[in-house]
Amino acid sequence: MGHKTSSPIEKFSSRLAFVMAAVGAAVGLGNVWKFPYMAGENGGAAFVMVYLLGLVVISAPIFVAEVVIGRRGAASPPEALSKQAVEHGRSRHWRIPGLFGLVAALLVMSFYSVVAGWTLDYMVSGASGQFTNLDAAGAESQFATLQASVPRLLFWQGGFILMSLAIVALGVRAGIERAVTIMTPALGLLLIALVVYALIEGAMAEAVTYLFAPDFSKLTPKMVMAALGQAFFTLSVGIGGVMMFGAYLPNNTSIFQASLLVIAADTAVALLAGLAIFPIVFANGLDPSGGPGLLFVTLPIAFAGMPFGGLLGTLFFFFLLLAALTSAISLYEPTAAWFSERGMGRMTGTLVAGIASWLLGLLTVFSFNIWADFHPLAFIPGFEDKTFFTLITTGIDTLVLPIGALLIAWFAGRVLSRQAVLDELGVKDGPLFKLWLFAIRRVTPVVVLALLVVNLV
Ligand code: PFF
Repeated sequence: MGHKTSSPIEKFSSRLAFVMAAVGAAVGLGNVWKFPYMAGENGGAAFVMVYLLGLVVISAPIFVAEVVIGRRGAASPPEALSKQAVEHGRSRHWRIPGLFGLVAALLVMSFYSVVAGWTLDYMVSGASGQFTNLDAAGAESQFATLQASVPRLLFWQGGFILMSLAIVALGVRAGIERAVTIMTPALGLLLIALVVYALIEGAMAEAVTYLFAPDFSKLTPKMVMAALGQAFFTLSVGIGGVMMFGAYLPNNTSIFQASLLVIAADTAVALLAGLAIFPIVFANGLDPSGGPGLLFVTLPIAFAGMPFGGLLGTLFFFFLLLAALTSAISLYEPTAAWFSERGMGRMTGTLVAGIASWLLGLLTVFSFNIWADFHPLAFIPGFEDKTFFTLITTGIDTLVLPIGALLIAWFAGRVLSRQAVLDELGVKDGPLFKLWLFAIRRVTPVVVLALLVVNLV
């Protein structure tokens, strides 16, 4: 991509192309499924506050850094990093963090595909009228039945991976991303409808207190790390997830402004999801720390109580599926691009990525049934009750993404020259740039390193 024309219309459409693609990658299961259940497991508002703070102070600056690296590099993350490192007289081994990002993306995809599979299953359930006459107990047993069926989980997970692979392999990504312009607002509207429903039928006051009145006794280094991890996850930063979108942005468009749009949209969707889910949790006596099933247990109750609930529920899970698909594409794309740069074929890369993530996904599928009581790291204190699923998701949030973010911050702040970054951002060496550089050079390393150390010892 990367049109470099100066016509205002072209500029606008290219910025829009970037915003659409990046919103597609950013908004996904992380906002609607993961954010609410993580907030619930970590005590609510204190988690939300740290998440929002981390988003503004650390994750957003890294997002900008990834766009800069991506637009300058115009290649897969390993290639983009090594090329620019060499240009700046540094080691080409900078490609290693890029490769690490490719592997991490497949690890993310392993559980992402399983949860997207749940979404597919619920879309079909909604269409076949299963969201009628559903109470809390019914919704819980519906979710438990799905989790107990390995073949059903594998079927939907496989189906989701095939859809994502087909899109990446056939190169119809642009078309899907165009659909994002309609899909994200539609998902937002349905979430608003759910919030209105929750306002009437749910325990909204309790939910607002739970989400926004922090109990600072809940602040622990582990919780802070989890909240920061979620702030990385939701913006797709830390593993090169954003780098590939840099190329969409023409050189004369403000990276700061475009990034702000993406981050605002992403945050709005997450907060709306929280405001839709928690009033239903409290009104039905459900447990806010109920874990990864939270979305799938609460929303069907809401749909069951709404006019046209079956239709709206089906649409909701369909839009969520599209949001998950655009994120999945961005998780496969770097591997596909890297294989194709090496002359090993885009198709091969896509297939390898698909198979690897499907196989790794088995660990997640089994975590909810046959291996629900298998705790592979039980011999380490603090890990006694962690399934493979919990280990993988926590490992991504609290280890992989923070380390990735650290390396990206290091690269943008200390490998690339100040002038190179200024040119790329298209800004003067003014207060905004200085603030960004301070976040990248000082805040990120200090905070992330401190949290890593405190949490590891
Ligand atoms: N940001 C996506 C979400 O919130 O659902 C998940 C994601 C996509 C993470 C791409 C990382 C990534 F590279």
